[in-house]
Amino acid sequence: MTIDETPRGPGSGGESPGMGRSRTTARDLERYAGLFAQRTQGMKSSAMRDMMAITARPEVISLAGGLPDTTTFPAEDVAALMARVAADASARALQYGPTEGMDELKACIVEVMAEEGMDVGLGDLLVTTGGQQVIDLVCKTLIDPGDVVVAEGPTYPGAVPTFSAYQADVVQIEMDRDGMRIDLLEETLDALERDGRTPKFIYTVPTFHNPAGVTMSLERRRRLVQIAAQRELLVLEDNPYGLLRYAGDPLPPLYALDRGEYVIYLGTFSKILSPGLRLGWTAAPRPVLNKLNLGKQGADLCSSTFGQHFVVEYFAQRNWRDLLGRLRELYRRRRDTMFDALAEHLPHETDWTRPEGGMFVWATLPDYIDTSDLLARALREHVAFVPGRAAYLDGRGGSSMRLNFAGVTEDDLHEGVRRIGKVVSEQVRLYSTLTGAEPAAARRATEPSPQSEDDPQGARILPLRRRAGGER
Ligand SMILES: Cc1ncc(COP(=O)(O)O)c(C=O)c1O
Repeated sequence: MTIDETPRGPGSGGESPGMGRSRTTARDLERYAGLFAQRTQGMKSSAMRDMMAITARPEVISLAGGLPDTTTFPAEDVAALMARVAADASARALQYGPTEGMDELKACIVEVMAEEGMDVGLGDLLVTTGGQQVIDLVCKTLIDPGDVVVAEGPTYPGAVPTFSAYQADVVQIEMDRDGMRIDLLEETLDALERDGRTPKFIYTVPTFHNPAGVTMSLERRRRLVQIAAQRELLVLEDNPYGLLRYAGDPLPPLYALDRGEYVIYLGTFSKILSPGLRLGWTAAPRPVLNKLNLGKQGADLCSSTFGQHFVVEYFAQRNWRDLLGRLRELYRRRRDTMFDALAEHLPHETDWTRPEGGMFVWATLPDYIDTSDLLARALREHVAFVPGRAAYLDGRGGSSMRLNFAGVTEDDLHEGVRRIGKVVSEQVRLYSTLTGAEPAAARRATEPSPQSEDDPQGARILPLRRRAGGER
């Protein structure tokens, strides 16, 4: 009998001819089980990675991925830049490069960071294989099994498998419309201290949070940096979305406020250029940077030299701010389309955040609806989202979902949200039939959304408990 009969797509150990055996037998599991390191027991698969095979099917509208729209980058530009890399630099581009990355690429990174008000030198930077590698290297460098990491709740679902793989004890701090609750952070740090425990780092996505969609206020940013300095704690600031702002005024990154003392900064070309390049970077205090470099040497020696040459060529030949401008325009329209669709199709019992940038809306349903179960129903309607539990390490988030608005056309956004609205409404009706509870009247398209009534910024985050005064 086979244990795992799940059909798999190419690249996942799959079923295609010539790709090897596709099924794991009980005997196989037994044979290898004793060989695995103890840390593999805590390893989890990323919810989004698991869903990629399903959501890649053409009939499925996926609001699940964190995908940017790569069609914004003209194919002829890619071809022209590739040709230049081949002609000008093929000997170097096809060679290994320094672990810390090429200086020419670092100069581009300095320019990108300056755009958000950060001042770095080439020596402060380490080029990485995507921003994801920064999270991995920071854990590799700082975390022994059982060490505490403090993160937001919800947190970036892609960081969950990394924290688990390094056996971190992750403490999640609630958020509200202004990002991480710094008052709760302080309480938690005090409580940990009383237990003789010091977190190895605080992980945060302060700007256009993935998945919550909210942005940490300036006051809280200042306070967080102050706390880090007073308590000598490292903060990992994960900032893939800072330049994708569609409304409101930019806020300084933590790295700019802290001036590189306690903040380890994570940046990436994935959302402003292309995730296929797999190029990100970190800027960190020198002693930390040196350890991260050692960790990277063991991981992959260096990031793709070819990709680095491509980005350098792109910055030399094109105006990267033009593409950024096009992305902002496109995503702003899509975000607004999603807001309209949510107001039209989701029942009144639902709430969602209204991000000023980034790619994600966090929607919360009545607590009797479990979004992991709902996903199975949604997939039958050929629509996908990320269930909220993927953003927690302790099973919370069961009635929330993350919706991506950046990687899907406006028509598909409308249709995708309509399908989600259909399965949610069915659940609401079922619940009221079973319990006799009166469902709230379905919201009419013309009715203002609950967010806009009391908060023009939106962002009443439902999964997050009410503040003492009843405010969210
Ligand atoms: C918050 C956050 N951090 C890190 C990453 C990793 O990005 P990449 O490895 O493509 O740079 C992502 C990607 O979606 C993200 O949303």
